[in-house]
Amino acid sequence: MAALKYAGLEDTDSEDELPPGWEERTTKDGWVYYANHDEMKTQWEHPKTGKKRRCAGDLPYGWEQETDDKGQVFYVDHINKRTTYFDPRQAFTVEDVQPKPKRYDANTSALEILEGRDLSDRVVVITGANSGIGFETARSFALHGAHVILACRNMTRASEAVSLMQQEWHKARVEAMTLDLASLSSVKEFAEAFKAKNLALHILVCNAAVGTQPWKLTEDGLESTFQICHLGHFYLVQCLQDVLRCSAPARVVAVSSESHRFTGLVDSCGKVDLTLLSPPKKDYWSMLAYNRAKLCNILFSNELHRRLSPHGVSCNAVHPGNMMYTSIHRSWWLMTLFFNLARPFTKSMSVVHLESQLCTCPRTATTLIQL
Ligand SMILES: NC(=O)c1ccc[n+]([C@@H]2O[C@H](COP(=O)([O-])OP(=O)(O)OC[C@H]3O[C@@H](n4cnc5c(N)ncnc54)[C@H](OP(=O)(O)O)[C@@H]3O)[C@@H](O)[C@H]2O)c1
Repeated sequence: MAALKYAGLEDTDSEDELPPGWEERTTKDGWVYYANHDEMKTQWEHPKTGKKRRCAGDLPYGWEQETDDKGQVFYVDHINKRTTYFDPRQAFTVEDVQPKPKRYDANTSALEILEGRDLSDRVVVITGANSGIGFETARSFALHGAHVILACRNMTRASEAVSLMQQEWHKARVEAMTLDLASLSSVKEFAEAFKAKNLALHILVCNAAVGTQPWKLTEDGLESTFQICHLGHFYLVQCLQDVLRCSAPARVVAVSSESHRFTGLVDSCGKVDLTLLSPPKKDYWSMLAYNRAKLCNILFSNELHRRLSPHGVSCNAVHPGNMMYTSIHRSWWLMTLFFNLARPFTKSMSVVHLESQLCTCPRTATTLIQL
């Protein structure tokens, strides 16, 4: 040893060697612990390395674990007809490495968050998944094996998104279904068509939105930003609630926005003013309508969580990041200008072209979309 120490090799292969007075033992279920005969104590950590170890596998073929009259465990080798108190698994122990919790930040992509996850037994529905954040979310789920349904109002754009994902991975299980959130009857038809497939529903991402469009009434007589961003999703969840509950553990994710902070829904007496939700043209400002709808997303998600979590369905609202360059700004030149100016300073993007349509894939920290 002195010679090795002199050569600087003292610890090369003796790291696991126990100091005098110590003995290595295993529990019935294969965890290694260390007994000190001098101090009459036991501990889980190796007295030299401080590491925990466990047996790497089962008992060798032909061996059995038994307990004697005093309760001490011994091992029977039926093939060689011998018994021993030494656990043969001790020859093959491995370090018990605690996986370090992953850290996510603003540059983490949805793909990185799902890394290593097998979602092949999950069914996911994402509204507005033909572009932007919805597209990237759908793509990330699909590349991890989930069966993903893109619920979109425009089937041409949706089919292009489906084929892009299938080009990336030919086994991607993605399909497009028609859903126009500006029409309550379309929402109902979507829910019925989905139920007719007899699929489970583990994740419902309420992502679709419009942000800057001029005042318009829907066929249901409601202001369209409010209906598309909030009410349509509200109704969709009501229609699919039974499937979600039967598929528990399941979750609903409402893609909201930080911008919900810049508005309120109460009047001067502190009461919720429902006329603010679907205002007439003279009182309409698209950004305000968007912010109110995003506030509704959060309130809805909180209440939904309160009601559904006892049934195994959790609900969360998520802010995906500020001013990510998607097509959300497209209906208003001023907002397009702001998004362009902010583009170099906001989250990085990987851009995918859908023929003439610009479809951007934001790198979002979609931690709430994790399973
Ligand atoms: N981008 C940001 O900086 C940002 C920031 C905070 C929150 N968000 C939220 O992130 C979510 C996704 O937005 P995005 O930025 O990815 O915008 P986006 O690229 O414009 O995506 C919106 C999606 O919603 C769909 N959609 C619009 N009206 C619909 C309707 N009536 N029925 C069904 N689908 C409809 C759009 O379909 P079409 O292609 O057919 O129009 C599109 O696929 C939104 O909820 C938004 O509020 C975005």
